[in-house]
Amino acid sequence: MRVEPARALRGALTVPGDKSISHRAVLLGALAEGRTEITGFLPGADCLSTIACLRRLGVAIEQEGDRVTVHGAGWYGLREPEDVLDVGNSGTTIRLLAGVLATQPFHSVLVGDASIARRPMRRVTAPLRAMGAHIDGRADGEYTPLAIRGGPLSAIQHVSPVASAQVKSALLLAGLQADGETAVTEPYRSRDHTERMLRAFGAELTVDGTTVRVRGGQRLIGQRVDVPGDISSAAFFLVAAALVPGSDLVVRGVGLNPTRTGILDVLRAMGAAVEVEETGEACGEPVGNVRVRHAPLAATEIGGALIPRLIDELPVIAVLATQAEGTTVIRDAQELRVKETDRIATVAAELSKMGARIEATADGLIIHGPTPLHGARCDSHGDHRIGMALAVAGLIADGPTEIARPEAMAVSFPDFFDRLRAVAG
Ligand code: S3P
Repeated sequence: MRVEPARALRGALTVPGDKSISHRAVLLGALAEGRTEITGFLPGADCLSTIACLRRLGVAIEQEGDRVTVHGAGWYGLREPEDVLDVGNSGTTIRLLAGVLATQPFHSVLVGDASIARRPMRRVTAPLRAMGAHIDGRADGEYTPLAIRGGPLSAIQHVSPVASAQVKSALLLAGLQADGETAVTEPYRSRDHTERMLRAFGAELTVDGTTVRVRGGQRLIGQRVDVPGDISSAAFFLVAAALVPGSDLVVRGVGLNPTRTGILDVLRAMGAAVEVEETGEACGEPVGNVRVRHAPLAATEIGGALIPRLIDELPVIAVLATQAEGTTVIRDAQELRVKETDRIATVAAELSKMGARIEATADGLIIHGPTPLHGARCDSHGDHRIGMALAVAGLIADGPTEIARPEAMAVSFPDFFDRLRAVAG
């Protein structure tokens, strides 16, 4: 994909449905009793992997674009799959499904692509084993393929060393069928879509600081879910508008869950003009419009509790920081090393090719700005968010930028380039 320097981004756009919420809507719909109707579903490769796995488990699902009907099987209506469950590139699919399969009295095997094969799974397999599930994988349950034979589970009190919504969600889902009350405590609050959607589907849970508790033996009832736009997809456009002089852009209908809006805090802290208009609520999630106008940018420090609130936006925040006056420091973000790629390494390597002054550290990045970027031959490394961050960098570079493996964008944002072309020329 070739990206040319952009004119100002102006006007309004929408972005596809939230990836995290789309996964949860089909998964809870499958486990619920009755029908779940989803609108605004993200028909990206990751969420389609969740649908494919659920179909293999015997769940009837109709999907056409962003509309999905799930005929709930009920928690114990899943059936033993005849073949392996392939999650593709999707960490959310494998970790949440591991939690569900741990409750099921049958054998299943989870596999994924080359990236999934390198991602750590013991963070979910170890606590699920402690609850009583039989799970194995390479390196003692750390890597795929994961083989699971579930059954009756006992509740646990789990203190997670990482703030991970995938870990938390896997354990809450298993906990819904365990004997007793399961508690999950995280160092910082991670995205809470599972908690919000479980409540909408009729489950009871309690939240106390960074601890979530759920009692076993609960049923879910099918619902209507209207998925808001993905703020992680909107982020590429919001950052582009903050970077390109003369820009004034509105993204409509985007999810504004406070566990996801760290990007807005950073844009403001760096000096961009950000206006947020909350327009309503869908399935327990706040929704609204975000307007960003270009302004001179200043460096900032990003760490601690802010990190889980913007973890997926850090590649594009690094691009933003190349144009900010001063030194931007990103710390406490070691989780970036175990995403679809090692995003500390891939962001530093690719932005360096464009002339950025950027250093990788063990747990983050240090970026000196402002530094003019020049077009270069870059690579998404097969990571959707790296590819889109490089496209945004290309908008402000001097000369054309070429991005190898642009097809990676289909994981979360299949028509990213069409929507970018519409607002940036
Ligand atoms: C997600 C949680 C986050 C995030 C990922 C989606 C989710 O991962 O990076 O893109 O839907 O629960 P971790 O749970 O590994 O932090």
